[in-house]
Amino acid sequence: MQHRADNAPLQQLDDWDDFVATRYHQGKSEEEFRNYKADANPTVTEFYRQNHAHQTLDFVLSKKAEYCSLNRDKKSIWEMAEYLNTLVDDSDPDTDLTQIEHLLQTAEAIRKDGHPRWFILAGFVHDLGKVLCLYGEPQWAVVGDTFPVGCGYSDQIVFPEFFAANPDSDVPDYQSEYGIYEPNCGLDKVHLSFGHDEYIYQATRIYLPEEAQYMLRFHSFYAAHRHGAYRHLMSEQDERMFEWVRKFNLYDLYSKGRERPKTQHILPYYQDLVSDFFPDEIAW
Ligand SMILES: [Fe+2]
Ligand SMILES: [Fe+2]
Repeated sequence: MQHRADNAPLQQLDDWDDFVATRYHQGKSEEEFRNYKADANPTVTEFYRQNHAHQTLDFVLSKKAEYCSLNRDKKSIWEMAEYLNTLVDDSDPDTDLTQIEHLLQTAEAIRKDGHPRWFILAGFVHDLGKVLCLYGEPQWAVVGDTFPVGCGYSDQIVFPEFFAANPDSDVPDYQSEYGIYEPNCGLDKVHLSFGHDEYIYQATRIYLPEEAQYMLRFHSFYAAHRHGAYRHLMSEQDERMFEWVRKFNLYDLYSKGRERPKTQHILPYYQDLVSDFFPDEIAW
């Protein structure tokens, strides 16, 4: 187990999600948004310091090699959800939602608005990649706003000053506007900082429509889907698909305040939904 103070500044993984939700609180003006540091507690700030310092291109490539070949495990979606639920940090069971409850709450909000089944399913699986934490990955390699590595950092990323401590900041080839990439090459060719988005995308992509794949893969890429950064790397297909990423983000951010999902009551619906799209076991 890694030492908490070193590698796990967040008391619970959801502290990052809560910070993001506060940052984009509905109705907040752009000016209020720019004051985001006031909303970040010291543990969240320390979390970003580590995330921005350690997510190098080399690190991302090594984690993709380790996890994206999906040869670690074979489990059903439900087994993975149960496994993720064993992630208990210092949360308060009376007020904090379990991981499965967050997934169900997001999915239920999507379902209530009458969206297609694949969209609801994307809501249900979107954070399963957080099991990376249970594999022993530090928090900064699991959650956090994602951003491209191997090219210049956008000032639309939160806490941009923390990139000064990233070794890639001293590599001129990685700091130009396009870096190692071609103009409008498409995000599939761009390496984003590693985390739960990429892992769940890789594990589920062959079973889901492209819109859902984008929702999963880019849901934490706030600089792009919220602030319009990195359009010079995006293809026309990315632009079209980001409409869906933006639609999805509203449910991820704002489903939390809603009532606790009545898990036993809605479970049969989700059992059917999952088995319509996924085989009994998938590769992780
Ligand atoms: Fe997430
Ligand atoms: Fe989420």
